[in-house]
Amino acid sequence: MKKEIIHATQVTKIYGIGTSHPYTALHDVSLLMYEGEFVCVMGPSGAGKSTFINNLSTIDIPTKGTVYIQGEEVRQMSPKQMGEFRYKNLGFIFQEFNLLDSLTIFENIAVPLTLANMNHEEITQRVHDVSRKLDIEATLHKYPSECSGGQRQRVAIARALVTHPKVIVADEPTGNLDSKNSHEILSLFKQLNETEGVSILMVTHDPKIASYSSKLLYIKDGMIDSEIKREGLSQKEYFYKIVDLNSNESQELFE
Ligand SMILES: Nc1ncnc2c1ncn2[C@@H]1O[C@H](COP(=O)(O)OP(=O)(O)OP(=O)(O)O)[C@@H](O)[C@H]1O
Ligand SMILES: [Mg+2]
Repeated sequence: MKKEIIHATQVTKIYGIGTSHPYTALHDVSLLMYEGEFVCVMGPSGAGKSTFINNLSTIDIPTKGTVYIQGEEVRQMSPKQMGEFRYKNLGFIFQEFNLLDSLTIFENIAVPLTLANMNHEEITQRVHDVSRKLDIEATLHKYPSECSGGQRQRVAIARALVTHPKVIVADEPTGNLDSKNSHEILSLFKQLNETEGVSILMVTHDPKIASYSSKLLYIKDGMIDSEIKREGLSQKEYFYKIVDLNSNESQELFE
């Protein structure tokens, strides 16, 4: 039987409650995502994509609506339970990387393992394994300010993968990478998805990247405007459908 991984019902997010200008960034959005699914989120800038994935993954708490992750209701968790739950289940890649400038790349990648009190040998082993996969071994002794944007992005990805998460939540994880590196990252994600059943919820602006997913959600004005499934389509056919969906949007600019 398919196992539910994220079940969000009628999620609304209002920013600035209690101020003179509250803003509803998500309106009554629902999603049922099963284990092993790879869901991509697209849509115009400011449409609510980051708000959507943050509210569905414990990073933020919705104003209204419920979110269950692996059968646990997020709102019911204590801060301590939430911390443990994130460590055991979720790997985050943020739009702005969120690396710590005062730590080396090695230490940045090791942060989640250090917080979980893993022993030093295993930490070293894991950090080296994931760095090799992401081709950043040569940067391990450096600080974030001494790395390129693309390297920092790969470090943020390494930090998300080092805990072996069951769900990867990623906000434009390839926004700073060239096409060769983007392709390599997506191949790595796809491999984790297909061979280890890792579920992925990912925002991207790039139809080529989105064509690796099994389902695409198009968000507009804080709502899910449309949805496409890859099922039965080749990656190329799926890609063209995604391009079409996005170009309908750009078309409006010229009308
Ligand atoms: N903390 C906040 N307070 C008030 N408004 C916010 C806040 N965060 C986001 N918003 C607003 O909510 C809307 C959705 O923002 P969000 O960051 O989710 O967009 P996005 O689709 O991820 O855009 P982008 O593609 O540019 O990253 C935007 O209009 C934004 O201005
Ligand atoms: Mg965003």
